[in-house]
This record gives sequence, C-alpha cells and structure tokens, in this order.
Amino acid sequence: MNPQIAPSILAADFANLQKEVEMLNASAADYIHVDIMDGVFVPNISFGIPVTEAIHRHATKPLDVHLMIVNPELYVEDFVKAGASIVTVHVEACTHLHRTLQEIKRLGVSAGVALNPHTPIELLTEVLDEIDLVCVMSVNPGFGGQKFIEHSYAKVANLKNLILKKGTKTQIEVDGGVSEQNAKLLVEVGADILVAGSFVFKAADPIAAIASLKSISI
Ligand code: DX5
Ligand code: ZN
Repeated sequence: MNPQIAPSILAADFANLQKEVEMLNASAADYIHVDIMDGVFVPNISFGIPVTEAIHRHATKPLDVHLMIVNPELYVEDFVKAGASIVTVHVEACTHLHRTLQEIKRLGVSAGVALNPHTPIELLTEVLDEIDLVCVMSVNPGFGGQKFIEHSYAKVANLKNLILKKGTKTQIEVDGGVSEQNAKLLVEVGADILVAGSFVFKAADPIAAIASLKSISI
C-alpha cells in the first residue's frame, strides 16, 4: 500500500500560484492541502476564500482544506463553494463538533477533524464513525517548516488501533514536518495521507520529492 500525498500550498511561491498548482497537477500528488489560518486560532494569517477559489480554478486534484480558525462552522459552506473536497476543522475550535461534522457532510464533502499535538485521540471516540479523516498534527499548527514531533508515531499507532476497534473507515492524515526521514515509519504505524509543505516546495525538484513520498510502500 502506498500513502496518499497532499502537498501543502502554504509553502508555495504565492506570487506564482498558478504555476505551482500546475506543477502539483503534473505530479503524483493525490490532493492539494490548503492551510487556512485566521490569526486567532493560530498565531499566523495565511489566506482565505478568494485564494482558495483561485487555486481551485487551476487545480485538477481535489482540495484538502485545513481550517485553523475559530468558529469554523461559520465558514464551512464558503469553503465548499470555493472548491473544497475535504473540510477539516480543529476539535479544539468546535464546541459542537458532531453538529459541524453533520453540516460538512450535508454539503456533500468529506469531513476531517484535526488534533493539536496535546489533544488526546480519545476525544474523538464517540464521533469516530462520523469522521472521514483525522488529521494528526505533528507540529503545533501555524507555520510551515517546523520540526516533526516524535511522539506523533505513537499517536498515529494508537489512533489506528482505535479505528480498527471501532471498525470505521476513517483515514489518518499526518501534517507537519513530514519528510523522507519520517514518512516510511509514519505509513508503517498507520498513516494513510501525508501532508508535506517545505519538503516538497523547498526541494530542487518538487515533482521528484512528491514521487519519493508516493513510492513508499509497506
Ligand atoms: C501547519 C500546517 C501544515 C504545514 C506543513 O500549521 O497545517 O499543513 O503547511 O508544512 P511543513 O511540511 O513545512 O511542516
Ligand atoms: Zn495543514
């Protein structure tokens, strides 16, 4: 089994977004990971709905939209209209997570839930069957280019066990500091989707960097 690869456009050259999206179209990437930061939930501001729409206009791969924002339920529909195929909200930002998951699915897209590094997987036990994808943050969200948190392997392994125990079809995505150094072990412990920003866009040959992650097989 090979992992699915979701390069994070956050690390792209924003002055040449069309070119960067076309590069991803021509690559082995399965998704384009779109990081939305509001300066409140995380201490950084990235971009929002019009830029997501612009990415979608050029993309031939589905958009995996990661909302690092407070009150994400207020914007789910806007991001679906902007072209999201997956909408991921943070459990730490959702008082009524179950309701938000229902809303994402009512809009016809896949529902993801992201967990900050300190957040236990057990918070999702009662709603796992409503979740298409759990995004395990392997850095503190807010910035690209940070160091991978080693505890993430154990967290992914425990989440995989919980999914098997519950018998759900939930996929595991790992986001933050993913590179050739840790990708194979992440897939071995249960990761289905690898997000990679700097590793892809800072590479001399981003298409080859994506192919190297995609070629991991266990
Ligand atoms: C972090 C974002 C990540 C980030 C990954 O807040 O959610 O998706 O872009 O970038 P790298 O791969 O550089 O850690
Ligand atoms: Zn992300």
